Amino acid sequence: MHTSPIGVFDSGYGGLTVLKEMEALLPQYDYLYMGDNARAPYGSRSFDTVYEYTLEAVKWFFEKGCTLVILACNTASAKALRSIQQKDLPTLAPQKRVLGVIRPTAEVIGDFTKSEHVGVLGTLGTVNSQSYLLEIEKFFPNVVVSQEACTEWVDMVEKNNMHTPEANMAVKQHIDAILQKDEAIDTLLLACTHYPLLIEKIRQFTPENMNIISQGEIVAKSLQTYLQLHPEIEERCSKGGHMQFYTTGSTEDFDIHAASFYGKPVISKHLSL
Ligand code: DGL
Repeated sequence: MHTSPIGVFDSGYGGLTVLKEMEALLPQYDYLYMGDNARAPYGSRSFDTVYEYTLEAVKWFFEKGCTLVILACNTASAKALRSIQQKDLPTLAPQKRVLGVIRPTAEVIGDFTKSEHVGVLGTLGTVNSQSYLLEIEKFFPNVVVSQEACTEWVDMVEKNNMHTPEANMAVKQHIDAILQKDEAIDTLLLACTHYPLLIEKIRQFTPENMNIISQGEIVAKSLQTYLQLHPEIEERCSKGGHMQFYTTGSTEDFDIHAASFYGKPVISKHLSL
């Protein structure tokens, strides 16, 4: 039977933290998750490489029948989304859509801060792209944004090396660094879909009243709104409540580690890109 699941993409496991919230809010849809674990992390890769890998992934989702693909990865959203939307989609699949996670997050992040000082924690790629600075400025021009590239964090999470003294040090180091950049920060945005796995550790090193914001629920709500506003896309998304998982890496490793991101057991299939 032909289905058109909602495609959810990440460089590895991180997008599962977003998928979990989408499924909780919008359980009626079919979802197809793909993690490019074999080539993760993307965070320190060049603009061209992230674009090339992400476009390959998007084409694969389209071949699988997806009408709508969500890049549940800030790095891919920062470095590849605009080119894909503007350059590739019009010729490749004008009736299909690819959306990212940066804009929906920027649209609401100002609502969480009282001091109007926000810290953005992301990969080097996301931070260097300046995407959050530009997007938050559009919606909340008064909000002062500081950024910190937490370079080692994705690898730590992908390899499940989170419960070591080195991991504590790496988390503390970047939290201290961003709070030194701006002491008035009252809201820290986890602008990488891998970082929610570190939230308890991050809390240990931040002042008690700090808002620590993960993107999962924000992106899920934004998807709900998008589907309400775009019935021409919504009616093409199949509704059977089925979940499928693919990885470019080892399915054994994926199934073991994915459960901690997704909160439930996962059985994945392999694909090569
Ligand atoms: N989850 C990806 C993000 O949100 C991680 C990127 C990476 O692979 O470095 O940016």
